[in-house]
Amino acid sequence: MASVEDIGIDLGSSNVLIYSRNRGIVLNEPAMLAVDHESRNVIAIGLEAYKMLGREPGNIEVVRPLQKGTIQGFDMLSIMLNHFVVRVIGKHIFARPRAIMSVSASANEIEKRQLIIGMFEAGTRRTQLIDRPLAAAIGAGMDVAKYTGHMVADIGAATADIAVLSSGEMSARNILSIGGDAFTEAIIRYVRLKHNLLIGFRTAEDIKCSIGSVWVAGDSKVTLPIAGRNLVSGLPKQIEVNREEISEAMEEPLHQMLEGLTGVVERIPPELANDVYENGILLTGGGAAMKGLAEVIEENIKIPCRVADNPQQCVAVGCGKVLEHPGEYEQFIGERRKGKR
Ligand SMILES: Nc1ncnc2c1ncn2[C@@H]1O[C@H](COP(=O)(O)OP(=O)(O)O)[C@@H](O)[C@H]1O
Ligand SMILES: [Mg+2]
Repeated sequence: MASVEDIGIDLGSSNVLIYSRNRGIVLNEPAMLAVDHESRNVIAIGLEAYKMLGREPGNIEVVRPLQKGTIQGFDMLSIMLNHFVVRVIGKHIFARPRAIMSVSASANEIEKRQLIIGMFEAGTRRTQLIDRPLAAAIGAGMDVAKYTGHMVADIGAATADIAVLSSGEMSARNILSIGGDAFTEAIIRYVRLKHNLLIGFRTAEDIKCSIGSVWVAGDSKVTLPIAGRNLVSGLPKQIEVNREEISEAMEEPLHQMLEGLTGVVERIPPELANDVYENGILLTGGGAAMKGLAEVIEENIKIPCRVADNPQQCVAVGCGKVLEHPGEYEQFIGERRKGKR
């Protein structure tokens, strides 16, 4: 039975995306809440909370319940999820929608069960979970039911979830505790050490996404004016940074990511190794939008590497496709999947 608002949810460490069966991506907001220290009241959720980040008054704190890839405040996570789901599906009394959700792999079984209960309380009928690399591959249009092996790396803010897929099953999976945040934090550290300038997370994100590149070719002198607080004088100051130095700033997390990927490549089952070398590595997740990343991976790991179209949306779109084509994909999710093992 096709329901009005069946939804696919990507509950990521920095962004929540919701795909509606009839409308495509309908929500894409930061996974953040602004909370009053004393009363613990939630002041703002999502985009409104992100706008306050770095500018919050003393009594308010902006929290990311899934920062570092682990659940840090389950109550906050539940409040946020409920808020987003209710906003998308409205209040349903009789026709409850179905949901397919992809949660950070570091959530334990109890937390996953609680999230499913939370989804029910928000108004869904039934929620099934899907592994992130599988959802990402489906969302990127990969034929996951095929026997041939493919490697997928979903790079989020806090983690990179990497797996080899064949016939919808995962092997050689590894979840690295390194994602886009590590590159942002490396920029903050570098600017502080090299320029004695303290910059905020949002400024560093802007630098990373605009001029940041891990593969510097000809245009290394592209510059960006940035503002922060001079650590010596304590006064606000503006400087210019260029692409070359930002690339230098990001060397360490890049190196760690390459090591993590190599670790997975080394564990590819022998019967799938050839396939992976032929099909290459598919990058999804917001972190895959990092300029030059596919080129650097290809150069270092010697396996072809490409970035999916709209990489940040792949997981949510994958969850949505499972809803839209149950016959094709249902064997890969929830209890049926477990029964197969
Ligand atoms: N153009 C870009 N260049 C580099 N990094 C990017 C770009 N766009 C988004 N990102 C990074 O992608 C990460 C967020 O990816 P996302 O998949 O939404 O995270 P999660 O799944 O963990 O919620 C952040 O670290 C963000 O800085
Ligand atoms: Mg993501």
